[in-house]
Amino acid sequence: MTNQSAPLRAHVTGWGRYVPEQILTNADLEKMVDTNDEWIVSRTGIRERRVAAAHETTASMASVAALRAIRTAGLDPDDIDLILLATLTPDYWMPSTAALVKEAIGNQRAAAMDVAAACSGFVYAFSTAQAYVTSGLAKHVLVIGAELLTRFLDYTDRSTCILFGDGAGAVVVSASEEPGGSLGIELTTEPQGAYMIWLPAGGAKSPPSRETVARGEHYIRMEGRETYRFATRTLASTALESVRKAGLEASDVSLFIPHQANIRIIEAVAKGLDLPMDRMFVNLDRYGNTSAASVPIALAEAVNSGRVAIGDNICIVAFGAGFTSGAATIEWTADPARGIAGDAAVRASDIHVRLPLDWDSVDPIPPALAELMARDPLNVPLDDVVPGEPESAHREVHA
Ligand code: ACO
Repeated sequence: MTNQSAPLRAHVTGWGRYVPEQILTNADLEKMVDTNDEWIVSRTGIRERRVAAAHETTASMASVAALRAIRTAGLDPDDIDLILLATLTPDYWMPSTAALVKEAIGNQRAAAMDVAAACSGFVYAFSTAQAYVTSGLAKHVLVIGAELLTRFLDYTDRSTCILFGDGAGAVVVSASEEPGGSLGIELTTEPQGAYMIWLPAGGAKSPPSRETVARGEHYIRMEGRETYRFATRTLASTALESVRKAGLEASDVSLFIPHQANIRIIEAVAKGLDLPMDRMFVNLDRYGNTSAASVPIALAEAVNSGRVAIGDNICIVAFGAGFTSGAATIEWTADPARGIAGDAAVRASDIHVRLPLDWDSVDPIPPALAELMARDPLNVPLDDVVPGEPESAHREVHA
């Protein structure tokens, strides 16, 4: 035996998602702010989004998606060497949400850290996982995007509160000498746009105080038009650069999985790449913008709904605050059928994120949402599985 082995490559071996049950429709928002379904659908494509229940947190949603991805990969939690969690809505400033997830999924070994690159965070974390895996520093990396945005929205600001929702998605990136896997990465950061999407207070520049809260500076603020311009200018070029680094042309990519911010932005990407819309995966009508969770939720749904086959080239691409953008072109190598069983193997109620012993938070549901829920329960009990998925998937696994 010589020690001349093939270079290590980064393959996606597991994927999973979790979205909360409660649905906030455009009709619900009409009762809260001066807006209407027609405006929201025509300007954004969003029809509804999910809202985390009071007992849910970014860590709890992340843990469900993560364990599903681990089960899909056919691994045990302790096979994971590194946990990367992309979020702009961590449970706490410290510890990292990734550390809480490590405990909740029952992993004893991994290093764990959060990644901050807003809506591009999952792609940034994915690229970090690729670097660890191809350098031999880690064999299996868990990459999570998880957000609880509905607790950081001003429900009197109709230009932002209609856009965002909650959820989590995750993948396992594994080392292998087999060809395929992640082939080309492109990341950009343009700090000229730093204050186009931001959360002004709560950090070192403006620590939380009565004044910052009174001024609503703990809520997300956004210059919509400037952000829109950045997104339409950057998404297609970032995707194309990643595709070229993979040695491919855009037409070689069977499915683009873009950040789910706005249908008009995705249409502009398709136009920029000179591709039809059926090459773009879209689920923002059901979830709105879930920031760092958007790409991994969409990836899991695309694979589980039969849109991705072994040997397909896919491209995940995102943009977000910073301004940041990121794309990864991946040759898919995992059996798509594994995802549905992986999802069904883990119920949300299986997950427990340990709380501090001597501290209890105040009610985390924003008053405007709480009032609406009390008056007109949003609780449409839908299962958190891909629509159209056979119910028998649960019974088979639990039998
Ligand atoms: N309902 C009704 N009217 C509204 C609403 C609403 N929810 N929101 C804004 N309007 C009004 C405005 O007040 C304005 O009225 P005026 O003409 O009388 O002043 C009019 O609609 C047009 O407003 P615009 O802001 O120009 O609307 P636009 O077509 O640009 O759509 C939107 C706004 C949807 C926010 C769009 O700019 C957009 O999608 N931008 C990108 C946002 C984005 O993707 N952000 C995510 C970043 S990712 C991250 O890192 C968090």
